[in-house]
Amino acid sequence: MSNIEQTLSIIKPDAVERNLDNEIKQMFLKNEFNIIKEKKIQIEKSEAEKFYKVHETKPFYNDLCSYLSSGPIIAMILEKENAVADNRKLMGATNPNDAEEGTIRKKYGISIDKNSVHGSDSVENAKIEIDFFFKN
Ligand code: CMP
Repeated sequence: MSNIEQTLSIIKPDAVERNLDNEIKQMFLKNEFNIIKEKKIQIEKSEAEKFYKVHETKPFYNDLCSYLSSGPIIAMILEKENAVADNRKLMGATNPNDAEEGTIRKKYGISIDKNSVHGSDSVENAKIEIDFFFKN
């Protein structure tokens, strides 16, 4: 049975700044993701705080929110079978130093903060994150 899912992907400020967006999009397309919608935007820190609310008790929360709002980002809805898990696999480990060869973070990530991409961690959160960027 097919299990088509959607997930939210963000190309983060470090990657947009280095003009890596097309290369990263090509990696998604080569791996059979369809890019259903995309938009390039810069968000306010208060919006980043809302987006990353699940991390609000973490020591890195403030820096994370400052960083995500520090420059333009590209938010995308990606669709394919098992999109959530497959996107996490394609992104690689959160810390680029731990990411496997061939993953986006291994190839382009600079540090655990500047790790080039974000992807939803569950189908449930994917719905919430897609609504955050694309509901009206
Ligand atoms: P992301 O997948 O966007 O989700 C939360 C982000 O917090 C994560 O990628 C990292 O860029 C950032 N981060 C910074 N420090 C840490 C940490 N110690 N553990 C996990 N994520 C971290």
